[in-house]
Amino acid sequence: MFNTLSGRFLILTIVFVMLAEVLIFVPSIARFRMDYLNTRIERAQIASLALLADNMLAPELEAELLQNAGVYNVVLVRNETRQLALSSTLPSPVADTYDLRDPGIGTLIIDALYEVTRTDDRIIRAVGLPKLDGGDLIEITLDAGPLQHAMRDYGLRILWLSAIISIFTAVLLNLVVRWVIVRPIAYLGRSMREYEKAPQDARRIIQPRASVIELHEAEIALASLQSELSAALRQRQRLAQLGEAVAKVSHDLRNILSTVQLLSDRLEESDDPAVKRLAPKLVRSVSRAVALSENTLAFGRADEPTPQLQRFCVSDIIDDVVTQEILALENTNQIQFQVTCNVDEVRADPEQLYRVLQNLVRNARQAFGPSHGQIDIVLGEDEASWTITVRDNGPGLPPKAIEHLFHPFSGGTKREGSGLGLAIAHELVVGHGGTLWLKDNSENGACFQITLPKGEI
Ligand SMILES: Nc1ncnc2c1ncn2[C@@H]1O[C@H](COP(=O)(O)OP(=O)(O)OP(=O)(O)O)[C@@H](O)[C@H]1O
Ligand SMILES: [Mg+2]
Repeated sequence: MFNTLSGRFLILTIVFVMLAEVLIFVPSIARFRMDYLNTRIERAQIASLALLADNMLAPELEAELLQNAGVYNVVLVRNETRQLALSSTLPSPVADTYDLRDPGIGTLIIDALYEVTRTDDRIIRAVGLPKLDGGDLIEITLDAGPLQHAMRDYGLRILWLSAIISIFTAVLLNLVVRWVIVRPIAYLGRSMREYEKAPQDARRIIQPRASVIELHEAEIALASLQSELSAALRQRQRLAQLGEAVAKVSHDLRNILSTVQLLSDRLEESDDPAVKRLAPKLVRSVSRAVALSENTLAFGRADEPTPQLQRFCVSDIIDDVVTQEILALENTNQIQFQVTCNVDEVRADPEQLYRVLQNLVRNARQAFGPSHGQIDIVLGEDEASWTITVRDNGPGLPPKAIEHLFHPFSGGTKREGSGLGLAIAHELVVGHGGTLWLKDNSENGACFQITLPKGEI
């Protein structure tokens, strides 16, 4: 309840209204005390008028007059002479004297707060100005008890009133807040949950209806976000379907092409010189087509399996890659491979790391064409990661390849390539939590570096 928006509003409203009431209460209790004392002074002045009419008052009459006025003594100063107009015996000496002729608001407040918290029956003296020029000054002595009592009564009345006002205001405000703010926010949350269940269902996109501008804007923003998301999801679905179709086509195409490859191999044995001459070209073209289908298929498995991390001797893998690349060379001495292994074991998926290295080394090998060169593979480590660097002294990456580095299909510049190798390698390394980047590139060669983190996460 107190963690809800309306609950918080309820409490805050009560607190603030009570605070406002306290701010009103303090000056008004001071005013109440001053009015009380002034009324006593006025009554005492009226009682003392009897003395002016009759100089010798009977003691019973004097007592009655004082009792009616609610005071013990009245002293009137007229023409600078002090007259004890009415008097009776004080039960105790005067404890405090208050001058009401020109009091500051601060003094009034302090005196009032002091008075309202006391519960003793002490005698106080109040000094004021007589009404209607009835003298220069008037002094009365009275019991503080009834004053304290009246002040407390007054305070309690204010307290009750403020409690009623604050509860009433709080409840009203609570209703308004619920209606104007909480209801639309709840609607916002509800429609988000509904949308989450089936984002492709356009009916679940929020219909803006809040009347508060800020909430209305939030609803509009959410509606447009949901529309965009739904559209993106639909597009993704279409792309996934398309990808699936491409994968199927590539698969069947590869099978068909494999047959063609077998047949075209045999064409080379033909006796017809024209066929014999064209056969190798046909074989190469078919081989390229097979490679393209295979690569597309590999990439089409959009979700590469999660790497199965294990510790293994990485130099074995590097040796395999190098051996395979040497086999592809027409002249084994055309390219020198230099492997430097400063680390025995790494933790990775051996199958995937093999594919990564194969792509990098094959690219380097292909970059030389028929010319001679050298490929260095260096394996190192630091505290946090293992690094594998593949460096060649070939011509370096062409601008188009750099521009689309690691982007599938778009970075390839070779006639026989599909432009997928680096994209696949990059994806596999990222799947290990590592990085693959082009460390160096110039006309003196290219250098790719793989970093594999050692930590769990
Ligand atoms: N070591 C390198 N030296 C020079 N160019 C490179 C090197 N590595 C990559 N490239 C360039 O980057 C392009 C993209 O490489 P990527 O491996 O992604 O595709 P590909 O080799 O053309 O085709 P695929 O690997 O799919 O058969 C290559 O076509 C090539 O131009
Ligand atoms: Mg390649």
